[in-house]
Parts: sequence; structure tokens; C-alpha cells
Amino acid sequence: MEAVLLVGGQGTRLRPLTETTPKPMLPLAGIPFVTHQLVRAREAGAGHVVLATSYKAQMFRDHFGDGERLGLALTYAVEDEPLGTGGAVRNAANHLRGAGPVVILNGDVLGGLDLGALLDRHRRYDADVTLHLRRVPDPAAYGVVTTGPDGAVRAFEEKTERPPTDQVNAGTYVFSRAALDEIPAGRVVSLERETFPALIGAGRRVQSLHDEAYWLDIGTPAAYVRGNCDLVTGLAPSAALHGGPAECLVLDQAEVGEGAALSGGTVVGRRARVGPGARVHRSVLFDDARVGAGARLSGVVVGRGAVVGPGAVLTDVMLGDGAGAAAR
Ligand code: GTP
Repeated sequence: MEAVLLVGGQGTRLRPLTETTPKPMLPLAGIPFVTHQLVRAREAGAGHVVLATSYKAQMFRDHFGDGERLGLALTYAVEDEPLGTGGAVRNAANHLRGAGPVVILNGDVLGGLDLGALLDRHRRYDADVTLHLRRVPDPAAYGVVTTGPDGAVRAFEEKTERPPTDQVNAGTYVFSRAALDEIPAGRVVSLERETFPALIGAGRRVQSLHDEAYWLDIGTPAAYVRGNCDLVTGLAPSAALHGGPAECLVLDQAEVGEGAALSGGTVVGRRARVGPGARVHRSVLFDDARVGAGARLSGVVVGRGAVVGPGAVLTDVMLGDGAGAAAR
């Protein structure tokens, strides 16, 4: 089985963190987010994965190389100008080695979907495309998908004001090679706004699998923090992690001062320092971050090398790499 990972977006909602690091390379529980997905694809039987990159493309190649360390063959399809989700998939198709169906994963979904089950469904219905669907409380922010009783997709409406259902596109697909090769090459194409509605309009076989396993789009600051904490506390599954559920994850050479309390799935990055008496709840401290004595943090991201002064009280904020926050 082959897979394509869409990792070329700018991640604007996670600025300033994404000014220095592309969203899929941001750490989740101490390792780049995309590692969780690569291992998931490998566990489901993928031997070859194409990373569809654009924004800060070189950082992926520098970190993962040919994929050997992960037991995968990795290739890189680089877009000089971002081609959108559909254009990226079409561009990545040039790098595929086989002719079988291809699993496409959005680079910002942390999930426990059984990829094998999605492929099985695709094959059983001899589908052109099969979508993973799930229910969400705020469907208007997603692609809303209407299906028939057998799971056939009848309509796909991206970010619509009056969603007819709470069932949405969860960002993982299987494409047959023919459907993939039909996406126009060399221009910007949106899967969500162009490809899916066109396939449905043309009466093609667009199938779906409804699955309510753990799922989180980590694209907003609150969700990014939550994804980290859920991995540490064991709520989110990941075959890329080896420790058991915990209240916090303290990485190599980090120092935690006397009487400091870390809770809710807080991550303390490599060589980071937390001062005595600090309380850090559901927060993510990147490598080399510093939190001063007695500081109180909740829902905070402290970027690489960023500094929170002693006694500072911070809630639900992100400090970019190298930033500083003093006590008020
Ligand atoms: P925001 O700017 O915060 O919306 O984030 P984003 O740029 O990641 O966009 P979005 O969350 O809509 O993208 C969904 C997935 O598709 C992410 O994994 C992106 O990396 C990826 N993606 C979006 N646009 C492109 C593109 O033009 N090329 C490639 N290769 N991937 C893309």
C-alpha cells in the first residue's frame, strides 16, 4: 500500500509557531507531528509514503531523509508554489510506484482511524474515492458530507453556513489511481471545493466510512495543545510513542525545580527548565524553553528557547520561538 501525506500548508492559524517550523513538523509529545502519521501508515501496511511538501519543504527532508530510520521508503513531491490539497495530490501521484489505491492523509489530523478498514471499504465497493467521515459539534467549520444508507456520498459542501448534517470530512481518503490521475495537473486544485463535488456531480462512486475513533484536527492553538496532552495522558493513540499514560512528559536533560507541579499532560522539551514552585497545566514547553520560579501556566505553548519570567501568570497563549513573557 502507498500513502500520500499532505504537509505543504502554511499553518497560518498556528503562527507564530509556524513562522519557524511547518505545522506538521511541530512537536507532539516530543516528536514531529508527522512522525505519528508516518508510523500509523507503516503499521497499516504502507511501505512507501510520498510527502507532498511546499512551505519550508527542506525541513522535512532534513529530518526524515529517505525514511529508513522509520522503516519506510519516503519520497518528496515539492511544489514551488502551493498547489492546494488537490493539486498537491496530483503532483504527488508522479512519485507513486504502484497502480493500486492510494491512502491520502491530511497532515494535521491526529487520529485512530483503522486505515485498513478504509481501504477494505474502498475495495468492497470498487470506489473511485472513499472518505473517512465523523460527527463534530461544529460542522460549519468543515466539509459537510451527506450520505445514502449504503454510505454512498450524495453531497459535499465545504464550510457551509447551514450544514444539513453534523457528519463531516475527517481528512483521510482512499483514491483509486484513475480518480487520482484525473485531477488536473500543474494548477491549484482544492479537493474539498472542486474534486469531491465534481466526482459526485458526475455520478462517480464516492464512498464513505463512518468511524468515531479518536480524531483531532490540530490546526488551532487550543487543538495543538490538546493533541499534545491527549497523547501524554493516553487519550490519543499513537504507535510512535512507547511510554504509558502519564500526567506529564519530561524530555531528555530537562530540569524541573523543587516543588514545581506539571499536570494535565504537560510536555517539557529537551533541555527546558521549569523553575521551583512553578505550576504548569496542560501546556507545551518546546526544547530549551524556560519557565521562571513560581510562574503559573495553563494552556500555554512556550516556543523553542522562549522565556517566561518568574511569577508570570499566563493562560491560553502561544509564545513563538525565542519570545519572552515577564510577570505582570
Ligand atoms: P491554516 O493556514 O492554519 O488553515 O493551515 P494549513 O495551511 O495547514 O491549511 P489546512 O489546515 O486547510 O490544510 C489541510 C492539510 O493540507 C494540511 O496538512 C496542510 O499541510 C495541507 N495543505 C494545504 N494546502 C496545501 C498545499 O497547497 N500543498 C500541500 N502539499 N499541502 C497543503
